[in-house]
Amino acid sequence: MSLPAAGGARPDELIFCVNGRKIVEKNADPEQMLLSYLRKRLRLTGTKYGCGGGGCGACTVMISTYEPASKNIRHYSANACLLPICSLHGVAVTTVEGIGCTKTRIHPVQERLAKCHGSQCGFCTPGMVMSMYALLRNHPEPSMEQITAALAGNLCRCTGYRPILDGCKTFCKEPFCCQSKENGNCCLDQEDKLKGEKISTKLFSADEFQPLDPTQEFIFPPELMTMAENQPKRTLVFQGERTTWISPASLKELLELKAKYPKAPLVVGNTSVGPEMKFKGVHHPVIISPARILDLNVVRYTDNGLTLGAACSLAVVKDALTNTVSELPGDKTKIFRVLLHQLKTLGGQQIRNISSLGGNIMSRKSTSDLNPILAVGNCTLNLASREGTRRIYLSDIFANGVGNNTLMPEEVLVSVHIPHSRKGEFVSAFRQAQRQENALPIANAGMRVLFAEGTDIILDFGIFYGGIGSTTVCVKQTCQALIGRHWNEQMLDEACRLVLKEVSLPGSAPGGKVEYRRTLIVSFLFKFYLEVLQSLNRMDPHLYPELAEKYGSVLQDFQSQMPQREQIYQQEVNPEQLPRDPIGRPIMHQAGIKHATGEALYCDDIRAVDEELFLAVITSSRAHAKIVSIDTSEALKAPGVFDIITAQDVPATNEFYYYSDPEIIFAKDKVICVGQIVCGVVADSDAHAKQAAAKVKIEYEDLEPVILTVEEAIKHNSFFEPQRKLEQGNVDEAFETVDQIFEGEIHIGGQEHFYMETQCALVVPKGEDKEMDVYVSTQHPALIQEMVASCLGVPANRIMCHVKRIGGAFGGKVGKAGLLASVAAVAANKTGRAVRFILDRGDDMLITGGRHPLVGKYKVGFMNDGRIVAADAKYYINGGCTPDDSILVAEVVLLKMDNAYKIPNLRCCSLACKTNLPSNTGFRGFGFPQSGLITESWITAIAAKSGLSPEKVREINMYKETEQMCYTQELDPENMVRCWNECMEKSEYYSRKTAVEEFNKQNYWKKKGIAIIPMKFPFGLCTRFLSQAAALVHIYMDGSVLLTHGGIEMGQGIHTKMIQVASRELKIPMSSIHFCETSTTTVPNAYASVASAGTDVNGMAVKDACQTLLKRLEPIISKNPKGTWNDWVKEAFEQSINLSATGYFRGYETNMDWEKGEGHPFTYFIFGAACSEVEIDCLTGNHKNIRTDIVIDIGCSINPAVDIGQIEGAFVQGIGLYTMEELKYSPEGVLYTRGPDQYKIPAICDLPEQFSVSLLSSSQNPYAIYSSKGIGEAGMFLGCSVFFAIWDAVAAVWKERGLTGTFTLNSPLTPERIRMACADQFTEMSTKDEPESFVPWAISI
Ligand SMILES: Cc1cc2nc3c(=O)[nH]c(=O)nc-3n(C[C@H](O)[C@H](O)[C@H](O)COP(=O)(O)OP(=O)(O)OC[C@H]3O[C@@H](n4cnc5c(N)ncnc54)[C@H](O)[C@@H]3O)c2cc1C
Ligand code: FES
Ligand code: FES
Repeated sequence: MSLPAAGGARPDELIFCVNGRKIVEKNADPEQMLLSYLRKRLRLTGTKYGCGGGGCGACTVMISTYEPASKNIRHYSANACLLPICSLHGVAVTTVEGIGCTKTRIHPVQERLAKCHGSQCGFCTPGMVMSMYALLRNHPEPSMEQITAALAGNLCRCTGYRPILDGCKTFCKEPFCCQSKENGNCCLDQEDKLKGEKISTKLFSADEFQPLDPTQEFIFPPELMTMAENQPKRTLVFQGERTTWISPASLKELLELKAKYPKAPLVVGNTSVGPEMKFKGVHHPVIISPARILDLNVVRYTDNGLTLGAACSLAVVKDALTNTVSELPGDKTKIFRVLLHQLKTLGGQQIRNISSLGGNIMSRKSTSDLNPILAVGNCTLNLASREGTRRIYLSDIFANGVGNNTLMPEEVLVSVHIPHSRKGEFVSAFRQAQRQENALPIANAGMRVLFAEGTDIILDFGIFYGGIGSTTVCVKQTCQALIGRHWNEQMLDEACRLVLKEVSLPGSAPGGKVEYRRTLIVSFLFKFYLEVLQSLNRMDPHLYPELAEKYGSVLQDFQSQMPQREQIYQQEVNPEQLPRDPIGRPIMHQAGIKHATGEALYCDDIRAVDEELFLAVITSSRAHAKIVSIDTSEALKAPGVFDIITAQDVPATNEFYYYSDPEIIFAKDKVICVGQIVCGVVADSDAHAKQAAAKVKIEYEDLEPVILTVEEAIKHNSFFEPQRKLEQGNVDEAFETVDQIFEGEIHIGGQEHFYMETQCALVVPKGEDKEMDVYVSTQHPALIQEMVASCLGVPANRIMCHVKRIGGAFGGKVGKAGLLASVAAVAANKTGRAVRFILDRGDDMLITGGRHPLVGKYKVGFMNDGRIVAADAKYYINGGCTPDDSILVAEVVLLKMDNAYKIPNLRCCSLACKTNLPSNTGFRGFGFPQSGLITESWITAIAAKSGLSPEKVREINMYKETEQMCYTQELDPENMVRCWNECMEKSEYYSRKTAVEEFNKQNYWKKKGIAIIPMKFPFGLCTRFLSQAAALVHIYMDGSVLLTHGGIEMGQGIHTKMIQVASRELKIPMSSIHFCETSTTTVPNAYASVASAGTDVNGMAVKDACQTLLKRLEPIISKNPKGTWNDWVKEAFEQSINLSATGYFRGYETNMDWEKGEGHPFTYFIFGAACSEVEIDCLTGNHKNIRTDIVIDIGCSINPAVDIGQIEGAFVQGIGLYTMEELKYSPEGVLYTRGPDQYKIPAICDLPEQFSVSLLSSSQNPYAIYSSKGIGEAGMFLGCSVFFAIWDAVAAVWKERGLTGTFTLNSPLTPERIRMACADQFTEMSTKDEPESFVPWAISI
């Protein structure tokens, strides 16, 4: 066989369409993904990069294909980051730009998402839009279930998803009502219920939405149709720089190719091969694409089962199975139904749309959700090679682990046959993941048993596990041993014992969670046992006993109700307020529409600058080591490389001293953590820079000690100075008087910011006077300016830092952004060229640190009536290798530790541990989410020990009247108590608590829990000069206004609010006011947008500037009161009145004297309370967030839509912190969790099904603009209501099982921790390894 291009002939042209435009690519590179092609080549930057591995959905596009034989057009969502452009021949791609834009017409999806406040930073929005758009192309009136499934693969770090769902559900046909009038009310009667209360629940008006008109959508490009119909199918070859892509047209050609290139992968969806190439550096010189071969795409219904082509996507598999299940009797479709159940949660919709059945099977990954079922279900593989065809059982390929040679390298999987199930056969599958949806399983299983007819005697038994070895594992010996046994408890006991013996999962097994995985293995088995018992009883109730409902409920998925979510805020504004005055109204985010159309520009969307270079960094692979040598010779020879940048190239400052230890740009002689930047490569493309970076060789000599954990830091006395302490009362004496004392320790894990836009910078030397434009994704342009200027040794007035908007930050884009910008600036300075430096997700997570892990060690004394009398606590935060914000975080840990409670005798201190981990930094809440959780844990422990309920202990200890806190500042807790009482009432706490207790009595393996938590969140930056702010307002002669201030738009809607402020002050519509960018050229020395203070302080400055302008215009206005704004502006200009003004705010009078432990560090307080209810599965550790009610005091909201968005978003981020986000480090200090595949942030499935947020009415705040309050951070802590609800559920387990003593739970409460806390016979039977007997895969830092 001759290959058109393999022998040097010209490669083929790649032809496809993007947004209706034909693209002919003559030099298609197999290594190029659609995402970079769209962004860099076609300059369509609406499609975003969030992770590059299919895990976040930011890059979602719609793919349309045409099948000439059936004339079928298929539309589906897909991750552009995993789609090789070479796989797109003949397809149509639709991106967010293609469906609508502000210049022409916006699409209803874009409009509704924006108007329902579904975008905050806007970085995830195009992806959300495209997932929803693809769904609407197939289902113009989707169900809520279809919507949540379509969006399950899209992550949003800002909104908490509720407003996104609100926007999407406006397309549903079904009425959004619980459909129940049982107690006289249904969910839609909410407005009626609230009538007369002067409150509103409407944040948008659906009346203004344009209808969806499917006839307006793009049609499949006729040219591509003609091409598909008329062009004979032939082998296509695309030749890239390093890789050849061959797409054969027939099976015969495919087999020839596979014989010729046995090592070449067959790439269909690229969801397995792609991530390996990207993240593990695997390189394939030849890639074969079998997707066009008909034999590999068959869907054939046969007499004894279903045959599916190996290249069928999982979405096609799902459709085929659904059809079969609907047509065949239940007995025959057991395997099909089990597969369908697993497919529901396998990846996101985009992944299921592109990844193939054959790819899932042949990758033989241990995490495959399909292989255990297919293996246990006796499915067969139809294999072919040049030598012929053969059929084998799928289970054979797992016979001796992954390296077995059942499959020949030149063999191709053509199709898979899934047989019908037989009578008397029972099949089931189980999986448990860190998150319920779109998460690879921690462990899974497929199980099947066949009984002798009319008996419960086992004839055949099969069990396959995933997640416990390097591939799917069969427990053959166990199954053999059980043949002939009755299905009873003795058999179960024996089965568990044998399985645990057969499965070898050593203590150091990769992936960790060893005891948990061992427990899951037997818990799954127990579930299967119960399930079969139940089925046997249903078949013959006389012969087989009934399984009590109490035990059987664990076999069902968590029950779902119609989601109900409401937001309640004070209605309108005061009656005298003019309709055009926007303050207090739920105004859409000023850039909302642009977010949804993809027109909103972020740092990496800035067009290429002439001759720009790309920077990739090389980071340390050692935690503490001397750099012996850096060998750059190979890297310098690599294609496209321009230069190497090291510490020697820094003209001035390489180390910044804000404390006694420095922040470092490039490591010079030694490295102090894994992930520290050592040097960089600049090249003509991002790919070349990365390829060359991989060739830099660094030789190290390890240094002692390597300090990673808090315990090690304590041992080595390794702390950043100063250490802080607070004290009041007489703690030692008080401990003498108390009824009970307990001592303990709680660990709270760190948290990755996971802003959707990774850190990035573009530095452009201007070629004159050492001036540089620095475009950075940062919260603190002035700091960037300062750091770049000092590292280059130029005055700050040469460095112009610009920020249009950033795709989320949450505290992570301050000092770290400064260091990264400095790296890029040094490179730009050395090369004299513009340098673009975009961190990929893995590097971002590795390099930039996150929230501080905290270990709290304490002793608490209390009376039997529940009163806390004394507490002595030491808080250790793991600061990492440099100070960054660690001292400030340690201070906040102390200042906010009391949360809502008066602790009369208190001694506490906090220490920032200096370790060899990447340096941690500020993160929403700044230490309070950690120390507040520890205090709430004390309350829970006191409740357990005193026999009182947790809410009673909370009430007893809560601040009740104006009094001094331990650092002498006064607190008036009136609104905190109001929030608590309202939350109690709104959540119907007591009646639901009774219902929870009732549920727990009736369910053994499932438990519910409920908890209500109060919150006092002090607002302020502790020091006056940090809260100063400035604004600049220009009025132009046409009456339009350009506004700027020092705040950064990162999703919190600050520009929207500032325009609202200017609109009120100048009395002109918001549409006349424009915000362009935040820049050090317009507002100098602005402090970072942090600590919830942006609106407070910049709002004051904007107001000041506008009032100055209005004062200047007043004489003109009073002379011509009937004139228009434009008349007055014109007149002012003619009278030579200055139409530009600055505004200034000096900052809040705050102080803290740490020597004395006294001060007034805060300006005011945000109060709140949250009540959450959860349900847990005691056998797997899974949990469901059933309901949350939040009542929160944010004064008079300037924009309730924006503020509620902040509360909900922070709350959901809090759920992430406290229940699922888990950073894993190796014992050598290497971060494992470097992407959304390993690190799980909340997804849509984690939003409480019933979710209500109420803003406390009649609350004034004399200290902030228009009586509002800064709200960015507070909601985060309320996420711990979910943590304590889980705790409550676990407590119910302990109570029922008569487990004695009290327990403590560390954070996050992951499925692993929940399962292991629910001690039972299965946790008992899984062997525990002696800690000294093995090196664990991961350590607790
Ligand atoms: C974000 C994400 C989430 C995921 N979540 C899950 C999950 O929850 N559960 C789960 O089970 N999986 C999950 N996966 C894995 C995914 O299902 C598999 O990667 C996918 O099914 C592989 O199919 P593909 O077509 O993309 O394979 P490709 O990457 O194209 O190929 C994979 C491998 O299979 C081989 N191969 C493919 N077809 C054939 C054939 N016909 N004959 C011989 N060899 C062949 C190739 O040579 C290659 O080595 C996830 C993947 C991603 C990226
Ligand atoms: S960038 Fe493609 S899924 Fe994250
Ligand atoms: S709005 Fe979704 S990530 Fe910011």
